[in-house]
Amino acid sequence: MERITWFFLVYCCCCVASLSTDESGLLALKARITSDPQNMILTNWSTTTPVCNWVGVTCASRHLRVAVLNISYFGLTGTIPPELGNLTFLVELQLTNNSFSGTLPVELAHLHRLKLVSFGYNNFKGEIPSWFGSLSKLETFNLFGNQFSGSIPAAVFNVSALQVMDLSYNQLSGSTPRAIGNLTILKELYLSYNNFEEFPTEIGTFDQLEMLDLEFNSLKGHVPLSVFNMSSLITLGLTGNSLNSSLPDNICQHLPFIQGFYFSRNQFNGALPSQLWQCQQLLVLSLSRNNFSGTIPRNIGNLTHLQLLELGFNNCTV
Ligand SMILES: *[C@@H]1O[C@H](CO)[C@@H](O)[C@H](O)[C@H]1NC(C)=O
Ligand SMILES: *[C@@H]1O[C@H](CO)[C@@H](O)[C@H](O)[C@H]1NC(C)=O
Ligand SMILES: *[C@@H]1O[C@H](CO)[C@@H](O)[C@H](O)[C@H]1NC(C)=O
Ligand SMILES: *[C@@H]1O[C@H](CO)[C@@H](O)[C@H](O)[C@H]1NC(C)=O
Ligand SMILES: *[C@@H]1O[C@H](CO)[C@@H](O)[C@H](O)[C@H]1NC(C)=O
Ligand SMILES: *[C@@H]1O[C@H](CO)[C@@H](O)[C@H](O)[C@H]1NC(C)=O
Ligand SMILES: *[C@@H]1O[C@H](CO)[C@@H](O)[C@H](O)[C@H]1NC(C)=O
Ligand SMILES: *[C@@H]1O[C@H](CO)[C@@H](O)[C@H](O)[C@H]1NC(C)=O
Ligand SMILES: *[C@@H]1O[C@H](CO)[C@@H](O)[C@H](O)[C@H]1NC(C)=O
Ligand SMILES: *[C@@H]1O[C@H](CO)[C@@H](O)[C@H](O)[C@H]1NC(C)=O
Repeated sequence: MERITWFFLVYCCCCVASLSTDESGLLALKARITSDPQNMILTNWSTTTPVCNWVGVTCASRHLRVAVLNISYFGLTGTIPPELGNLTFLVELQLTNNSFSGTLPVELAHLHRLKLVSFGYNNFKGEIPSWFGSLSKLETFNLFGNQFSGSIPAAVFNVSALQVMDLSYNQLSGSTPRAIGNLTILKELYLSYNNFEEFPTEIGTFDQLEMLDLEFNSLKGHVPLSVFNMSSLITLGLTGNSLNSSLPDNICQHLPFIQGFYFSRNQFNGALPSQLWQCQQLLVLSLSRNNFSGTIPRNIGNLTHLQLLELGFNNCTV
């Protein structure tokens, strides 16, 4: 009896102490909020109510620790304190669509349980921190819509659990590190609206990739043929680059699930692939504003699912 009481005493002291660590981490975040126009947290995050009842906070019952922090769309302005790195039971950290700025403190690298990180649509700047590579359980990694610049550090691609990576709408440049080829179970990759110049060749080795979005960069030259060999692809977005090769005639041969080819606003040239009709799942075929020539293959007409066909501003004839 005595032992059991002792056990609970120790156990509960531990969890209270730890939950209070989470509480002080969140209060440190609250102290960094300079504007909360919708009064989402300034009055709600009060020490008079338990942390687990605070808005945007979800606790895991097993450990009685904060497991989810989702303060997306709260309209907050502020910066991120190092103390947020003390919430070591966090599995999801979502700050999407606020106005957080500054840099991301290295202490966030302690959040080893994180599976989902979304800092999308904020004002973070600087290089993407390489410590993201130590979050080995990360499955979803969203930094879209910030002002991250420089090239992507290779260390980020140390996270082999990654399934979704969205770095679009930043100012990233350079070439993509070869280590991106380590993301073998990646399903969705969004790098659009940056300044990348080289097509990341290693991408062609992914065999689970469904979404490849490289639109509106400065990609030059040709599309590596291996890209058209990724049979898992559903959407291929290349609009708005400076790609200037021709397309392989058998482009559909290894893409049984492809639904969207977004190729407009490049300098693709040569004849339109004669075998496009083989992409029977196609919903969107956008080839406008290129330099294709020759005739438009009539059998495009048997792509019965097609919802959008854009061929304008080329040199084709019917
Ligand atoms: C804080 O917000 C939560 C969720 O909206 C609500 O259930 C709770 O009552 C609020 N607490 C206070 C003190 O306003
Ligand atoms: C986070 O909150 C936003 C806004 O309330 C919601 O749309 C989104 O689904 C939430 N994310 C998760 C993973 O629950
Ligand atoms: C939390 O983190 C800060 C800064 O990283 C540190 O100074 C503090 O001692 C940590 N621990 C607790 C229990 O708040
Ligand atoms: C962010 O949220 C605001 C409203 O809170 C909305 O006006 C704006 O369009 C959103 N931005 C994005 C990129 O979703
Ligand atoms: C890479 O991940 C392993 C474990 O998944 C970790 O031990 C190592 O520190 C990470 N390396 C970097 C550079 O983040
Ligand atoms: C990628 O994988 C190779 C081979 O397994 C390994 O040597 C390299 O360190 C990895 N790179 C990163 C950034 O994880
Ligand atoms: C595409 O895959 C086929 C076999 O599936 C292989 O023979 C060919 O070399 C691959 N092409 C490229 C460019 O990877
Ligand atoms: C594509 O552009 C490069 C310069 O970026 C040029 O060297 C090459 O000749 C062009 N190729 C074609 C087929 O137009
Ligand atoms: C388009 O292709 C024609 C040949 O078919 C070539 O003469 C012309 O220079 C090309 N235009 C551009 C902008 O690449
Ligand atoms: C589409 O056109 C091709 C070439 O003309 C033909 O071989 C194929 O059977 C047609 N497919 C359908 C579903 O009509």
